[in-house]
Amino acid sequence: MEKNQVTAVIVGAGHRALIYADVSLKIPDKLRIVGVADKNPDRLASTAQRYGISEEYRFDSADSLARREKIADIVINGTMDRQHVPTSIPLINRGYGMLLEKPFATDTSELADLYVSAQKNKSKVFVCHVLRYSSFYSEIKRLVASGTLGKILTVSMSEDVSLRHMVVSYVRGKWNNEDTGTPILLAKSCHDIDIMMWLMAPEYPVSVFSSGSDMRFSPENAPDGAGTRCLSDCPIESSCPFSAAKHYVHYANPRDFYVWGGKELSDEEKLRSLADDNDYGRCVWRCGHTGVDHQTVCVTFESGATGTFTLSAGAPCDERRIKIVGTQGTLTGVFEENSITVRTNINERPDKYDERVIQCGVSAECKHGGGDEALVMDFCDYFLYGKHSLSCSELSESLLGHLVVFAAERSRKTGRTVNL
Ligand SMILES: NC(=O)c1ccc[n+]([C@@H]2O[C@H](COP(=O)([O-])OP(=O)(O)OC[C@H]3O[C@@H](n4cnc5c(N)ncnc54)[C@H](O)[C@@H]3O)[C@@H](O)[C@H]2O)c1
Repeated sequence: MEKNQVTAVIVGAGHRALIYADVSLKIPDKLRIVGVADKNPDRLASTAQRYGISEEYRFDSADSLARREKIADIVINGTMDRQHVPTSIPLINRGYGMLLEKPFATDTSELADLYVSAQKNKSKVFVCHVLRYSSFYSEIKRLVASGTLGKILTVSMSEDVSLRHMVVSYVRGKWNNEDTGTPILLAKSCHDIDIMMWLMAPEYPVSVFSSGSDMRFSPENAPDGAGTRCLSDCPIESSCPFSAAKHYVHYANPRDFYVWGGKELSDEEKLRSLADDNDYGRCVWRCGHTGVDHQTVCVTFESGATGTFTLSAGAPCDERRIKIVGTQGTLTGVFEENSITVRTNINERPDKYDERVIQCGVSAECKHGGGDEALVMDFCDYFLYGKHSLSCSELSESLLGHLVVFAAERSRKTGRTVNL
């Protein structure tokens, strides 16, 4: 009988893994969560309760799960960046398929180890490149693949990371240090570089140059008199745009789960925690931030086509833009507006052009433009029936973006062009 349901174990029951696992509540016939592994006992217990997981299918780590006989078809791996490869390989060797968060590897050697292990075990590993599944980028992919724009000459993309997003995630938060977290280009913009490679496929990138720096959050940019913690020793806190009280207590922050770990606290308790030892109470200039706040990546493809991507962090709002120029026309779009404008040449009328505005329909509450949910559904169809969609983010089709990011980071650090 044909199998019509995927069974899954969550490994790393954090914020991201539960977004994917929750899709099982909408499509229980297709996806069922049967187990969970997490090092944090509270998360283990609450996740087990959420999905009705029995005691024998709860594990205190990925390793404990990997030591047991296989209990499900796939793993949803939502551990943090540097745990992806060490937790995935033993589970792939145990025979699991995998929905694996990005970045799926942190350097070329991890990438090779993961790839070899997936190939050896014939494991279906899907990377959570959720933007490929958004209606906005799916529509762009369809347009490019249809040849509407002719041969692509150049793709320019940009990502503005809002000030409050930058500060909570990449300055004070989990990705503030490139050695313990990962560089922002990998942690955040691997999505964008992946989109560029996916749109340009089957063309290969041949060289990468990148430069960028931190002009805002390094200690030498601290204003005179700034302290080390906003709410304990800083005389300029009330006038500082980065005040922890403003960011995490007085005004709404969509990422406050990073700061409070899902705990319900009163404002007084929050202010005390920020004054005391909460990492998010540290001064933005004196919290050990090692990354960049702006970076540009220039890619040359084998045909001579070019791609550029610019990351700018600390902007008023989050915004992704794209412009593609082809021999027959241009495409421009803003992800947050879900709108794409296509202009094409009219061969017999050089004085005119056609213009089409496409509104991509997605409801406001859908995360990543609807991509999170669509990715899980696509993975189930790929796993069960081998269906291969235009967005398919299977591991072997997701490698190039990460390789370009690794090359860009090498280029930024050495000042040289890196050939691939
Ligand atoms: N696809 C996207 O758009 C997107 C967006 C945000 C974050 N992410 C990525 O998602 C990943 C998870 O981020 P998050 O904020 O949900 O993380 P998180 O810190 O909330 O969750 C990670 C969980 O892994 C658990 N864990 C750690 N080591 C473990 C082990 N050996 N075995 C089992 N469990 C273990 C931790 O206890 C924790 O509960 C990151 O890699 C991040 O970069 C992806």
